[in-house]
Amino acid sequence: MLLEGKAAVVTGAGSGVGAASARRFAAEGARVLCADINPDSARETADSIESTGGTAFPVACDVADEADVVMMLRAAVDRFGRLDIVFNNVGVPTPRLGASLEEHTVSDFQRLFAVNVGGAFFGCKHAVIQFKRQQTSGVILNTGSVDGLVAWGGAVYGATKGALHQLTRAVAIEGAPFGIRANAICPAGMPYTNFMAAGGADMTAESIARIARHTAARHPLGRPITAQDCAEAAVFLVSDRAADITGALVPIDGGYVAG
Ligand SMILES: NC(=O)c1ccc[n+]([C@@H]2O[C@H](COP(=O)([O-])OP(=O)(O)OC[C@H]3O[C@@H](n4cnc5c(N)ncnc54)[C@H](O)[C@@H]3O)[C@@H](O)[C@H]2O)c1
Repeated sequence: MLLEGKAAVVTGAGSGVGAASARRFAAEGARVLCADINPDSARETADSIESTGGTAFPVACDVADEADVVMMLRAAVDRFGRLDIVFNNVGVPTPRLGASLEEHTVSDFQRLFAVNVGGAFFGCKHAVIQFKRQQTSGVILNTGSVDGLVAWGGAVYGATKGALHQLTRAVAIEGAPFGIRANAICPAGMPYTNFMAAGGADMTAESIARIARHTAARHPLGRPITAQDCAEAAVFLVSDRAADITGALVPIDGGYVAG
């Protein structure tokens, strides 16, 4: 029970990395607020945790809206009495996956930055405020991407993740004197989540299998990355086992970046 008694917030908890992480946090003893812009999927994850004996509740929240993020964190504190872990996991793809730089509109650019960077900024800012108010340490985890470590294409999405990585490191340095840690996981392409569908990709069983083969072939370890892989790293990074790890950008990429 790595997270026994901890109060955690996970954003994007209705799907993919967020859903897998919320479940793993709960399985390790955390009480989990499952936040998502889609209330039904947030409720589904929370219900699945409660049905297996865990403690969770759903909150509808658009992380690009500061008032929503404040409300979300307040809901966690009201319910759990404190806040220990904030996992800013939400990220959206470019609306038309594969779009070149010049095909991005101003509103594409603004939405990508508002959600991917703005959402994490609000989450980090208000987590730090709450941790300092409690006069306790606290842990922030953000979901970055390999796309913010190397240029894979997807210029605007990659730029949001690069910015998020730098935000993570800066929060780690500012938070360190207060015992606040901040890290990011940086996954490589995950074919089995809803992320690529959100980018307009046609995710049939056949295309998912093709993308899985393609991504696996690019990783030295030779298999596609899954949401569960990310959740396992997330549990470790938010736990006290990682007490000396802060400011780290951890690739979950089968060795791709190392190559
Ligand atoms: N899937 C990939 O290939 C991949 C690769 C690298 C990094 N990532 C990153 O991993 C993270 C999780 O992605 P995933 O693959 O689990 O995606 P996903 O699409 O399966 O899940 C994302 C969840 O976030 C929610 N969401 C979207 N916008 C929101 C908003 N404004 N406010 C609150 N919730 C919102 C969605 O409803 C969804 O439930 C993202 O940060 C993404 O950028 C994904």
